Amino acid sequence: MTNKSEIKVTFGNRGYVAPVIVGTEGEHAVDIRKLRAETGFITYDEGYGNTGSCESAITFIDGEKGILRYRGYPIEELAERSNFIESSYLVIYGELPTPRELEEFRNRILLNAGIHEALRTMVAGFPMTAHPMAGLSAMLNALGCYYPELSSNNRKQDLENFDRTTTVLISKVRALAAMGYRYRNGLPVTYPKRGYSYCENFLHMMFSYPGEDSQIHPDVAKALDTLLLLHIDHEQNCSTSTVRMVGSGGANLFASVSAGVCALWGPMHGGANQAVIEMLTEISESGDDGTKFVERAKAGEVRLMGFGHRVYKNYDPRAKILHAQCMKIFDAIGVEDPLLKIAHRLEDIALNDAYFKSRNLYPNVDFYSGIILRALGIPVNMFPVIFAMGRMPGWIAQWKEMAERPGGRIYRPRQVYVGERERRFVPLMERVAAPSANA
Ligand code: CMC
Repeated sequence: MTNKSEIKVTFGNRGYVAPVIVGTEGEHAVDIRKLRAETGFITYDEGYGNTGSCESAITFIDGEKGILRYRGYPIEELAERSNFIESSYLVIYGELPTPRELEEFRNRILLNAGIHEALRTMVAGFPMTAHPMAGLSAMLNALGCYYPELSSNNRKQDLENFDRTTTVLISKVRALAAMGYRYRNGLPVTYPKRGYSYCENFLHMMFSYPGEDSQIHPDVAKALDTLLLLHIDHEQNCSTSTVRMVGSGGANLFASVSAGVCALWGPMHGGANQAVIEMLTEISESGDDGTKFVERAKAGEVRLMGFGHRVYKNYDPRAKILHAQCMKIFDAIGVEDPLLKIAHRLEDIALNDAYFKSRNLYPNVDFYSGIILRALGIPVNMFPVIFAMGRMPGWIAQWKEMAERPGGRIYRPRQVYVGERERRFVPLMERVAAPSANA
């Protein structure tokens, strides 16, 4: 980073000279790290829309131009020429792997798929109706208990064991996701096979029947692989910031990614792929073609799920790739989904409507991902789980970057207090109810 210039801000008769930090892609940031110490002021930025919480060399997004790059490589090129595991390595370690490094990384992921029998019984402790994201978060944190040497909360030790923890997590998030599904469907647990790719194995672990060979359509495995690759990282989003926040207190990687799963679950974040399908189903069942729903969204009654993004003010490049993938997969497996027609109609209306145009609301990654996952036979409540599987390498990379930063401080924002000023305690018997507004 270079300190190119300075900005002078005046607070009454006090001045603050803020250095300007310029990133490698020319983004400018005002460095206010000494602001409070020198002026007594803090900044207010609810939702952190203007706040840079870290310097990061992992992912670059230009939301105005619709650009997304992992470690400098355009997402379009990675989606076409790489795969989930290779791109995960890139995101975590900063460079594309050599053939040997990739082979070793793959093997370690394959060999780490086993789940301790005691942990397996924990899955059965969840009600059948439990949401899979609740189970996944709990299981990932519990997993750390089976690896005390990897989850010591001793930063030096946790970093020394980072490579092992990485492959344990990438492997076991898949195993836990599939195991939860098998439990909910009364099926025995299945383990990965040598010779299958990461996604072929996931489909095998989800859908194979005892005693039968798995029939995995290569286009289905490829579609899932691309989908996971597109979800690997997205800089400082809600769940990634959560992972960094939890980790900044010294917590280990298992605990940090478990918190990431909770943050991801919400319908405004990773739960949006589930919410999109629920919305399309509701529109379809009500006999609407999308027109009425868009009017309700414009009136502020509902949100058009899978639309809008804090950073993209243009078409999300991941949505473009997923739309193409979506059309391909429907052709390849020869299925039709009436929800796809509604999705196309919604997109068409929204992209030509002044409300959506003036607010730069475009389809995001979740708009088509749910339709693809539905075509692959993944149950709707597992869509955010698939998102979490895809995001796992990104969380790992971001935790590593945060944990390795020299002189890193705990994440601890300030607030503007707007509550009561100091007052005296009133004994119980002396308290009178405040008069009601209608009295
Ligand atoms: N439908 C209708 N109006 C919307 C939508 C939407 N999906 N998104 C934003 N708006 C409107 C919003 O009402 C506001 O209008 P006004 O200026 O009149 O008050 C304006 O657009 C700006 O919205 P905002 O809520 O200030 O934007 P934000 O940056 O805080 O929120 C968002 C971003 C993604 C949470 C939001 O666009 C949203 O809720 N989208 C639907 C949920 C969704 O698809 N989430 C997945 C995001 S991509 C994957 C991921 O990050 O996990």
